[in-house]
Amino acid sequence: MDTKILRKGNMRKKIASGLVALMLIFTLANAQHRSFKTNRAVLKLIEADYKLADSQYKQLMQTLAPGKFPKTYHPDSNKLETSGPGWWCSGFYPGTLLNIYQKTKDAALLTEANRMLDVLSAQQYNKTTHDLGFMMYCSFGTVQKINNTQKNKEILINSAKSLSSRFDPKIGCIKSWDSKKPEYLVIIDNMMNLELLFYATKVTGDSSFYKIAVTHANTTMKNHFRPDFSSYHVVNYNPATGEVQQRRTAQGYSNESAWARGQAWGLYGYTVMYRETHNKKYLQQAEHIAQFILNNHNLPADKIPYWDYNAPNIPNALRDASAASVMASAFLELCRYSDLKYGQLYFKTAETIIRNLSSPEYLAKAGSNGGFILQHSVGHMPEKKEIDVPLTYADYYFIEAIQRYQNFAQK
Ligand code: GLY
Repeated sequence: MDTKILRKGNMRKKIASGLVALMLIFTLANAQHRSFKTNRAVLKLIEADYKLADSQYKQLMQTLAPGKFPKTYHPDSNKLETSGPGWWCSGFYPGTLLNIYQKTKDAALLTEANRMLDVLSAQQYNKTTHDLGFMMYCSFGTVQKINNTQKNKEILINSAKSLSSRFDPKIGCIKSWDSKKPEYLVIIDNMMNLELLFYATKVTGDSSFYKIAVTHANTTMKNHFRPDFSSYHVVNYNPATGEVQQRRTAQGYSNESAWARGQAWGLYGYTVMYRETHNKKYLQQAEHIAQFILNNHNLPADKIPYWDYNAPNIPNALRDASAASVMASAFLELCRYSDLKYGQLYFKTAETIIRNLSSPEYLAKAGSNGGFILQHSVGHMPEKKEIDVPLTYADYYFIEAIQRYQNFAQK
């Protein structure tokens, strides 16, 4: 009898201290959230952005041939450029539709997203690309957050298996690009594909996906970054020994330059790594990348970067709205994990980007821009492709960024 009472007492104490801990976490999280004050004018702009995005994407869907995904638009010839489902960007269009739908509840967008998901689903078995995270997680991962189904869960698990098939333990990385030469090419962009692997471990309990993601991120952290925390675009490993045999660019200005979107992929990628592992070294890495970006004397005051931080003709070089969108979205997550002083800086930077991308300088006029939301991105300057055009991923990360910003107002 006495021991029972004692046990009951202990239990009560445990529950009480558990509740106190929970309340403390809740209070701290709330306090942190409250410290990021959203701006009423920016929230108003965001409301208008969503309205425009809804009507633009309804225009875009009218012009798409069956089985095709939008890539970009050429205003001179009034031509929409499209791809098949195997292109690395195929997940952005359905993902953007779904994210706009979550806000506007416009059923036409959901119907269109589902139509495209059907076309995309066979990519779950595609082992020829490292871009399965972009393709499948930005699309099926998004629909799972709206309506969690077993079918889509299996598609995502198969996608994670296909992505994992490109991992080589000797190198410690997932292979980005296939090559006939004796080389093993890994690009900084690949950090963005790891979120899919974390999802797969969560829903299967199989830690092998998680371990591949962590190993890839560690190897990339060791080999892709310069002392100032800018990153190379491509690291070429010796496939026999795993040694680095070359560091270079593909889409940047030069081998030693800092390609703007590459820096944004790294920022976003290591922020996700911290979210998924709670390992502080990834938070520090994301913060170091953030400092490189924010302290860069070539980052303009409006925080929309030139396409490369070392582009030769700055200040006349082209801006890249896609890099800005990725940065804004990443900063709106990173600010929640960082010390308040830096958190405020990241939050304000994201706000500035959103404000500027929502201005007529970057935001499409209704009915123009081929139905895309943002203007002025740069896809591949060295190959002279997709220069100063709309791009699906600029739209995708812009919508994600405004969604994240609005969430701060709602909490
Ligand atoms: N290689 C993907 C990108 O253009 O960012």
